[in-house]
Amino acid sequence: MFTTETLQKFAREVAKYPAGQQRSAVMACLALAQEEKGWLAPETIEAVAKYLELPPIAALEVATFYNMYDLKPVGKYKLTVCTNLPCALSGGYHAARYVQDKLGIAFGETTADGKFTLIEGECMGACGDAPVMLVNNRRMCGAMTPEQIDKLLEECK
Ligand code: FES
Repeated sequence: MFTTETLQKFAREVAKYPAGQQRSAVMACLALAQEEKGWLAPETIEAVAKYLELPPIAALEVATFYNMYDLKPVGKYKLTVCTNLPCALSGGYHAARYVQDKLGIAFGETTADGKFTLIEGECMGACGDAPVMLVNNRRMCGAMTPEQIDKLLEECK
């Protein structure tokens, strides 16, 4: 199911915890599994659970709780727009509407060319930089005015 390289990374994560506490590595292993597969299919989540000797439901609970895990295929660029209160009060909804109009998709959708997926996100702890967007779960972009959004979309082309 997983490459040798991913299995080695799983082992490194598990080694960070005391013996018998491998379940603590579930978030990291799900992230690594997603990195390899592109998204987390039910069988991928089950394989992570099996590796960590967890009931599959325990891994599924984690995978469905955090929106950094993708439970269906996503585009090359996953754009997560924060619409929680501080961002909402500072232009988050306008940013969301603007990027939806630009891409022609709603939250939870992927553009026809498979390039962009748009996700509505929760607070990313960067409220001071509102409105905030996250690219592929890793790159945080703040003060997302229409001009900044245009620049970001252009970079992603
Ligand atoms: S509310 Fe958007 S980053 Fe905190």
